[in-house]
Amino acid sequence: MTLSRRTFLAATLALPATPPIAEPLPLRVLARRKGLAYGCCVTCGALDQPDLAQAILREAGLLVPEWEAKRGRVEKRRGHLDFSAADRLAGFAAAHAMAFRGHALVWHLSNPAWLEEVLAAPAPDRALLTDYVTAAVGHFRGRVSSWDVVNEAVEPKDGRPDGLRDSPWLRAFGPGYLDAAFHAARAADPAAELVYNDYGLDTPDAWQQDRQRVVLRLLAGFRARGVPCDALGIQGHLKAFSGTFDAGHFRRFLGEVAALGYGVVITEMDVADEGGPADAVARGRAQAALARRYLDAALAEPATRAVVTWGLSDRTTWLKGQHPLPFDESLHRKPLWHAIAAAFAAAPPRPRK
Ligand code: XIL
Repeated sequence: MTLSRRTFLAATLALPATPPIAEPLPLRVLARRKGLAYGCCVTCGALDQPDLAQAILREAGLLVPEWEAKRGRVEKRRGHLDFSAADRLAGFAAAHAMAFRGHALVWHLSNPAWLEEVLAAPAPDRALLTDYVTAAVGHFRGRVSSWDVVNEAVEPKDGRPDGLRDSPWLRAFGPGYLDAAFHAARAADPAAELVYNDYGLDTPDAWQQDRQRVVLRLLAGFRARGVPCDALGIQGHLKAFSGTFDAGHFRRFLGEVAALGYGVVITEMDVADEGGPADAVARGRAQAALARRYLDAALAEPATRAVVTWGLSDRTTWLKGQHPLPFDESLHRKPLWHAIAAAFAAAPPRPRK
């Protein structure tokens, strides 16, 4: 009886008789091959889970703190800035040659109670805004490649002619607070990409079209006033069983953003399955199909430079029970992972910088 070469070697050299199943290429590699970046949000708690930390290391080329760099965590006591948790995440990223995004300098949520009170007092000092931006961006100078400077400042439902959110920042300092934040960030780190970040910019649903129109006006105004904003962050919180995605509509919106001279970053992508059928396989298939359509449209726009999912595994998602991320709670790849991988593989390559 003749032995095959592999069987002979396996018998004599104790090699595995069957070849190990090749691990699929990580999302960060598939993205980088096209000149794109892929990453995910992360928390210190996620890094304390060895299996999850390992998966993040394998898959992500970019990290963003889910909450550790928000003002409610950083400045619990007025004037006492504690970046320790965000520094740990930045250190992890740097140790593994991963890019690091900052999120979020100016937001109407996740603020410390004292700040809400001071902003609501008569004639608040704009230094409450600009000093914090300067301190935070300065602290991470050279370590954060991209900042969400202002987050979710648009809300047409608040009824303002300019479509801005009636937030504590707007009430304290007027619409100019956005410009002031971006100028302070640019002065503190001229090399960092500065991003305006928002949600509800993905579909032709009427409320999203309203938001798209306001965002385009906001971005055009930045350009007219010389406000140093470099890119639009589109959060990308998608729902597989609600709303309608229209690739042509989304590509036209992205084209208008790019025509104003902005880059595009998909900053918080997840695909919720709430409202879907009981059959998990059917839900997973629908999530993957939407993700692929969404990313094909997003990546067809040359100005799109990165895709970030708001977590890597359903184990840590903020959308509990909606299974919105590429890996399940046991860190198995889901159809959604394969859809993202396929979208990167199909994406037109970006010109090398
Ligand atoms: C969310 C986090 O995921 C939650 O853990 C936290 O409780 C609230 O904030 N848009 C944003 C993110 O810009 O900062 C939000 O993150 C999700 C919506």
